[in-house]
Amino acid sequence: MDDLFAELDDGAPQELAAGVVLLRGFVREQASLLLAVAQITQAAPFRQMSTPGGYVMSVEMSNCGALGWIADRHGYRYVAHDPLTGEPWPAMPEAFLALARRAGLEAGFADFSPDVCLINRYVPSTKLSMHQDKDEADFSAPIVSVSLGLPAVFVLGGLQRNDPSQRIGLSHGDVLVWGGPARLRYHGVLALKHGNHVELGACRINLTFRQAA
Ligand code: SIN
Ligand code: FE2
Repeated sequence: MDDLFAELDDGAPQELAAGVVLLRGFVREQASLLLAVAQITQAAPFRQMSTPGGYVMSVEMSNCGALGWIADRHGYRYVAHDPLTGEPWPAMPEAFLALARRAGLEAGFADFSPDVCLINRYVPSTKLSMHQDKDEADFSAPIVSVSLGLPAVFVLGGLQRNDPSQRIGLSHGDVLVWGGPARLRYHGVLALKHGNHVELGACRINLTFRQAA
């Protein structure tokens, strides 16, 4: 898998496909983001959600922002309150918003204004099956995905479930943006390999910023 991480890294945005931009090492404020994640998930704890089909997702999730993404037996949707606590989701920290905007701009999406940050926590063996992000009201805004902790292999498919896919290695501090013609491409994450990250231990955190309302 090492060569998945080995593309030329001169800090410039890499357009991997139309509307898919990889920003290697784009995050400068890893430690403060992780501190904010710890604070957010004290108020809105990580939890495994169940799909409408009754399958328990292996990834643990939480949210911050005006809305949060949930799955339950009724379906997939955005809600203003954390169903676990009944409280509004924790506010999105300014530093999250600034990072997401800066990444959107760098990837060619001006005016990105996310109202949701879905926070995913992966431990070794955890994976995320292929899916589209399609519960948002307006697909003109991109998805901005920030990777922290252990490296993962992100699988980028096409607009149809059975289209060929490509694999992208995502490491601590990398940002992947997909939007425009790529906004509804299928994607997922392969089972996380064992490892120990110097800041996060045996864990990967992914932040996905979305404009949902
Ligand atoms: C997602 O598709 O919501 C998360 C992707 C990732 O963890 O890299
Ligand atoms: Fe997704």
